[in-house]
This record gives sequence, structure tokens and C-alpha cells, in this order.
Amino acid sequence: MGEMKSGNGAAGDRFDKPVVIITGASAGIGAAIARRFAEGGFRIVAVSRRQEALDGLVAALSGIAEVATLAADVATLGVPEQAVKLAIDRFGRLDCLVNNAGAGKWAPVHLTDDETLNEIIEVSLKAPFRFCRAALGAMGAGSAIVNVGSTFGLIGGLDGGAYCAVKAGLIGLTQTLAAQYGAKGIRSNLVAPGVINTDMTKDYWDAAPFQRLNHEMTPFNREGTVEDVANAVYFLVSDQGGYINGQTIAIDGGWTTTKYLTEAALMAERAPYVNATA
Ligand SMILES: NC(=O)c1ccc[n+]([C@@H]2O[C@H](COP(=O)([O-])OP(=O)(O)OC[C@H]3O[C@@H](n4cnc5c(N)ncnc54)[C@H](OP(=O)(O)O)[C@@H]3O)[C@@H](O)[C@H]2O)c1
Repeated sequence: MGEMKSGNGAAGDRFDKPVVIITGASAGIGAAIARRFAEGGFRIVAVSRRQEALDGLVAALSGIAEVATLAADVATLGVPEQAVKLAIDRFGRLDCLVNNAGAGKWAPVHLTDDETLNEIIEVSLKAPFRFCRAALGAMGAGSAIVNVGSTFGLIGGLDGGAYCAVKAGLIGLTQTLAAQYGAKGIRSNLVAPGVINTDMTKDYWDAAPFQRLNHEMTPFNREGTVEDVANAVYFLVSDQGGYINGQTIAIDGGWTTTKYLTEAALMAERAPYVNATA
């Protein structure tokens, strides 16, 4: 069992190794989380839309972990229940859920149409809620849930309208899960990554605002990585995190907590104030 306490999967413990459902497991942060859990001895139910990307994950983890895949949109009704059923049918138990899949379209509030608003709420708030609802029925004492939020859900951010609102909503969901199910021995926490170089951010990575954020506003000497996030998620579900419940852990090198600026950034000339709706 390694570092993970036993849950009591709904169908009983047919095997020793614990089982985790990870959404958005085929790329970026989710793939790193899958690798970390595989190294920790978990069997994995990986959920994301593209089967070929999931096949890539299975190949990458072959010899390290058993991986069952579900190629589906997390926002489709019934998919959370399918994922839990897959965990029970294939592995006989469910110990952890990592709600990682998320949609990231950026627009200020006054330019966010209903289609975008609904898509972000469906994928990044309603789907995690439904996955928690489905998973809780199969989890027992010693189980754990981790939701992947964002630093933008902690402090807001320019152009982040729907994304920031939804990620902040996930914090509320995490806290109520912690209150409701903590007494049953099921812990719930949230990680809030800063900007991390993945498919979601690659088109913006070299842009000046991202570079400023990473290098002028973060009091640390390197950029954050997908492994930094995966290690924190794993810590939270492991025995080492065994008394942590209802917390939000920012993985951002100190960006959100310090109001840091390099000397050069502090002294730099800035554009004059612009109207909020310009
Ligand atoms: N990268 C960052 O800077 C950053 C910072 C803070 C928080 N986050 C959060 O971290 C999480 C992962 O982001 P990432 O940067 O790793 O993104 P990514 O590299 O774009 O990977 C997203 C993963 O989620 C899957 N996915 C996306 N939409 C889905 C849907 N509707 N249904 C099922 N699977 C879906 C993708 O596979 P398919 O396309 O095949 O479905 C892929 O496996 C997100 O919740 C994001 O908001 C990221």
C-alpha cells in the first residue's frame, strides 16, 4: 500500500493497491499526477476526451502501473458514474479522486459570452462536483479528494472572468466536502498552481505578461513545473498529509502571498492608467 492509507472501495478490497481516478490525465499537469501516483503504487482510472492521448499515457506508464482509460468529456452527464464504475469493476475499490480537467478560455467579464461562461462552468465546476458526488459513494475512511484550482481563483486576474470565478467556486466545494465528509475519514483539499508550462499555456508562455509574472513577480529562482504540482497533490493524499483537510495549497513559488517585485520591475515605467472597459 506504500504511503497511502486504505480506503474501503464499495465492492471491497479485492487487491492491495489503492486506486485513483484522475480527470484530464492524458497531458500536462494531469499526466504528471498520473505518473506520481503510479510511482506511489496506485492503479489509475484516467479520464480525458482523446483516446489516442490516453493510449500514450498507458504506454508511458506500462510496467509501472495498471491504467484503465475512459475517453469522455467530463462535462457529459453520466461520465462521473462511468468512471467510478470502471474503478470498481476493474480494480475493486476507489481511494482517491483528482479533479484536474479544466477549461481555460480567457476574456474579461464584459466580453464573456454565455457560451464561454457555460462551457467553463460545465467543465471546471459542475463536472468536478459530479465526480465528487459519484466518488463519495464508493469511498471509505482513508480516502482523499484533491481538486485542481488555480492561483487565479485565489486573487483573481486580468481577463480571467469565468475562469477565476469557477476556480474560486472549487475552493468552496472543497471546504464543504471537508466539513461534510471529514468526520467519515475522507479528506478534501485543493491545489492552486501558478502558471505552469503545458498545452494550456504554451501559446502565451513567451509573452511578456507571463514572463513578468514568472520572473519579476515571483520570489523564486526557477519556473514551476508539472512535477511540482503532482508532488503536492500526492503529498495531500498520502499519510504525510493525513491531517490536512479543507486546505488550499498554492504552488506558485510565493507569487500570491508576497506581492514581490524585482528591483527592476519595481522601478520600471508603466503605461498610464486605462479605463476598466477600454
Ligand atoms: N497550466 C497552468 O498554468 C495552470 C495553472 C493553474 C491551474 N491549472 C489547472 O490545471 C489543470 C490542468 O491544466 P493543464 O495546464 O495541465 O492543461 P492541459 O495541458 O491542456 O491538459 C488538459 C488535460 O485535460 C483534458 N481535458 C480538457 N478538457 C476536458 C474535458 N472537457 N473532458 C475531459 N478531459 C478534458 C485534456 O485531454 P483531452 O483534450 O484529450 O480531453 C488533457 O488531458 C486545469 O484544471 C487547469 O485549469 C493550470
